[in-house]
Amino acid sequence: MLVSCIVAVSQNGVIGKNGTLPWRLSSDLKRFKEITTGHHIILGRKNYEDIGRPLPNRVNLVLSRKENLKIEGCEVFSSLEKAIEFAKESGETECFIIGGAEVYKQAMPFCKRLYLTSVETSIDGDIFMPSLGDGWVLDSEEKFSADEKNQYATTFKVFSRK
Ligand SMILES: NC(=O)c1ccc[n+]([C@@H]2O[C@H](COP(=O)([O-])OP(=O)(O)OC[C@H]3O[C@@H](n4cnc5c(N)ncnc54)[C@H](OP(=O)(O)O)[C@@H]3O)[C@@H](O)[C@H]2O)c1
Repeated sequence: MLVSCIVAVSQNGVIGKNGTLPWRLSSDLKRFKEITTGHHIILGRKNYEDIGRPLPNRVNLVLSRKENLKIEGCEVFSSLEKAIEFAKESGETECFIIGGAEVYKQAMPFCKRLYLTSVETSIDGDIFMPSLGDGWVLDSEEKFSADEKNQYATTFKVFSRK
């Protein structure tokens, strides 16, 4: 099973502000939906609370250290390894680490593919993307302009590593 990471990052490394996303990028959300639909997604409890509901047509695996936490429509795991194992045992071919920062940091060593939206601005924020580690090779890159539904220009990049 491939473990992939999907994230949107500003030029100065910001991914979040005040518990939520610091931008409005509807084409990025659409792409996120297309890429992750039908798959297992792994997310931190804080990211889950920001989203506010299980994402439909995906198996939502939420990480939390709170004992006995139950979230309707989600599976809750007390460790990243257990969540990855659950996806693997379910026959998943590609599971997605969808953040936030605390989860990206722990998961990055497991990730062999990275779907990265570079948000072409420097922006104020309080949550930053951790180091991506070494060995990434750029497979594809596509640029999009800002418009009425997308606050900033973006570059969508796919990387992989051995
Ligand atoms: N730009 C993007 O693409 C993007 C994507 C996702 C999120 N974000 C942003 O990122 C921010 C949230 O990130 P964050 O770093 O604050 O929080 P987070 O990673 O979403 O969640 C952290 C929580 O996850 C649980 N957790 C983490 N590692 C665990 C482990 N190994 N085992 C069990 N539980 C574990 C803990 O929950 P408990 O406290 O319940 O124990 C921890 O408090 C928000 O602003 C959000 O909008 C941005």
